[in-house]
Amino acid sequence: MRMKLVAGNWTMHGEIEQNRELLNMIVSGTTGMERATCAVCVPYPYLSQAQSLLKNTHISWGAQNISQHDKGAYTGEVSAIMLNDFCCRYVIVGHSERRTLYSEDSRTVALKFKAALDAGLVPILCVGETLNQREAGFTEQVVGEQLDAVIGLVGVDALASSVLAYEPIWAIGTGKTATPQQAQGVHVFIRNRVASHNVRIAAELRIIYGGSVKASNAAELFAMLDIDGGLIGGASLIADEFISIFLAAQN
Ligand code: PGA
Repeated sequence: MRMKLVAGNWTMHGEIEQNRELLNMIVSGTTGMERATCAVCVPYPYLSQAQSLLKNTHISWGAQNISQHDKGAYTGEVSAIMLNDFCCRYVIVGHSERRTLYSEDSRTVALKFKAALDAGLVPILCVGETLNQREAGFTEQVVGEQLDAVIGLVGVDALASSVLAYEPIWAIGTGKTATPQQAQGVHVFIRNRVASHNVRIAAELRIIYGGSVKASNAAELFAMLDIDGGLIGGASLIADEFISIFLAAQN
């Protein structure tokens, strides 16, 4: 049985005072909900705040990006070792905004995935297609290539310590959610692709869905057999929404 994961991706949002209120509300609003895992991925400057407010709670924290390098003259970058200094559990790698706005190619994403794993962090690997690619019938090819780049570098066994997030780019921040059936179809594709290397790892792999998940659509998405939770952007900034989404993952 795969335990569902609901992870918030705050993207570039936050302010010390608001964060405190939001995190405290999430902690109290989800207390006793133990049938799923909850996490928040916050901007780097707030990792220390997340650590002090969330330690000794049931909520984990993490970052939204990581350098592929251990250390060195890489101005503005943050290493896995630094994330460990703040006791992060998760780090998002290959979010579509990183791939498109910051030109991260699949090779770079794979190196970041490896850097996270090597440091004992749990990478949340994002894959997903654009609207044009979907309409042209290339969804599986695109998602397959993004996945293969990682498997090619680290081997399929490494997926056992990671989470996959299917995030169709056309659904991120647009209010357009993939239908549960559309998402389920790609999740099955991903699981089968992993199963072609290792059936057990595929069966245990958590594949979460991201792209305009809200309190109003979470339950129907999470009801699909191969959807093991969600990566939540906008709705993770609103305590009530995020708590309701987490509640939907309890079933
Ligand atoms: P959204 O974002 O939930 O606002 O669509 C998802 C994400 O950024 O991962």
